[in-house]
Amino acid sequence: MLTIRQYGDPVLKQATKDVEEIDGTVAKLVDGMVESMYAAPGVGLAANQVGVQRRLFVYDIGDGPRAIINPRIVESSGEWTFEEGCLSVPGLSWEIVRPKQVHLVGLSMDGDEVSIEADEYEARVFQHEVDHLDGTLLLERLNDDQRREALKILRARALAS
Ligand code: NI
Repeated sequence: MLTIRQYGDPVLKQATKDVEEIDGTVAKLVDGMVESMYAAPGVGLAANQVGVQRRLFVYDIGDGPRAIINPRIVESSGEWTFEEGCLSVPGLSWEIVRPKQVHLVGLSMDGDEVSIEADEYEARVFQHEVDHLDGTLLLERLNDDQRREALKILRARALAS
């Protein structure tokens, strides 16, 4: 099982680099990430959340596990509010407004081009994971009041540990 990095770990704030070759190392990483995502449990996991600075994420929103290599959001539209949490900031969640629809492109594990027009929940998962790969945590998506409250809780946690 891979260790999921927690808030405060600098690896979560670094942008990842594109995967150049989808080889056995990547396949092994994806298998480990899927296993760790299910164990958490969560619906998505980005590579830098397990300390690997490569641009890929895994997710399962009920249709089985999938990995997207070198994902990018090329278009987004609308607005949708949804209560969002993160395995790297456990036990906390916030109502966050983000685009409702996104168009995600990337590669499958076979190296085929992937193009997904996602809406609502799926679109939210994609935006959250692509944010991770850009070094952005959901805390940066909070409004001022939410962020103030969140940092208070996280500071108290850090002092208690
Ligand atoms: Ni997350």
